Amino acid sequence: MKILNFGSLNIDRVYDVEHFVKPGETISARTLHFYPGGKGLNQSVAAARAGAQVIHAGAIGEDGAALEAVIAEAGADTTGILHTGGPSGHAVIQVSEAGQNSIIVYGGANQQLTEDYIETMLNKATPGDIVLLQNETNSVDTIIQRAHEHGLLVAWNPSPFPKDLSALPLLSVDLFLVNAAEGAQLANLTEDNDPKMILQALQSMYPSAAVVLTLGGDGVICLYHGQTYSHPGFRVNVVDTTAAGDTFCGYFLAGLCKGEAIDRCLAQAGAAAAIAVSRAGAAPSIPVKTEMETFLAAH
Ligand code: RIB
Repeated sequence: MKILNFGSLNIDRVYDVEHFVKPGETISARTLHFYPGGKGLNQSVAAARAGAQVIHAGAIGEDGAALEAVIAEAGADTTGILHTGGPSGHAVIQVSEAGQNSIIVYGGANQQLTEDYIETMLNKATPGDIVLLQNETNSVDTIIQRAHEHGLLVAWNPSPFPKDLSALPLLSVDLFLVNAAEGAQLANLTEDNDPKMILQALQSMYPSAAVVLTLGGDGVICLYHGQTYSHPGFRVNVVDTTAAGDTFCGYFLAGLCKGEAIDRCLAQAGAAAAIAVSRAGAAPSIPVKTEMETFLAAH
């Protein structure tokens, strides 16, 4: 089983700030770093570093060669990445003293996927493979629908959360990968609700889908083939939470591809995400498999 990831590739401009800028305020950043990022790129890098076979589908502009190189270095297949004119996607990220982030994404080349391109890439997968996608590219509706029609398992990380869900064929999604805010919105609830209630609501709405609900430092709960699983969070020094969720997604799906038990997939993904939050940046913070294994053995 392999992963075909239709995902964004962004140049992340990361500003270290004392606090997030408020309306009408001007603040000085302490540092500026450029990192490879994008939810799609991060998830491909994580899954490939975890040992899965990954094909990345997505688009870069004239300034995106380094983004493609990062995915290739992680071991994923980048030969299908589309090269467009104009700029690649980019993100403006504030990282506060507490390690929290606030992100603005500009789509750029990520919004240039055509129906022909999507079909060409889907033909690289075989029934039973996983098609992974987020919400930073265009044509999310087409990718979900056509992947389902190809007999592929659709794993969707609805981030950033869509403005209009009604246009999306969500009954064709096999696995939702959501954080607490996204899970609550998907379930028409609020983040104040008990995560178990969010999980139950999602089960009623999407009875044939699995749900992985990540809870930051509080760990994760998951509903898979009618059974509920959970794993506590790992306590680490938080440096930068950027890409923690992406690292979790990539490692979790890599575990599924290798036929690991769900408990083990959750533990490995949680450990990898914990390492990612203890480091700066998006893709550079994602551990390789041996680092994750050492961390897990020590905790
Ligand atoms: O999830 C983190 C990512 O979100 C960043 O790398 C940024 O590019 C945005 O896509």
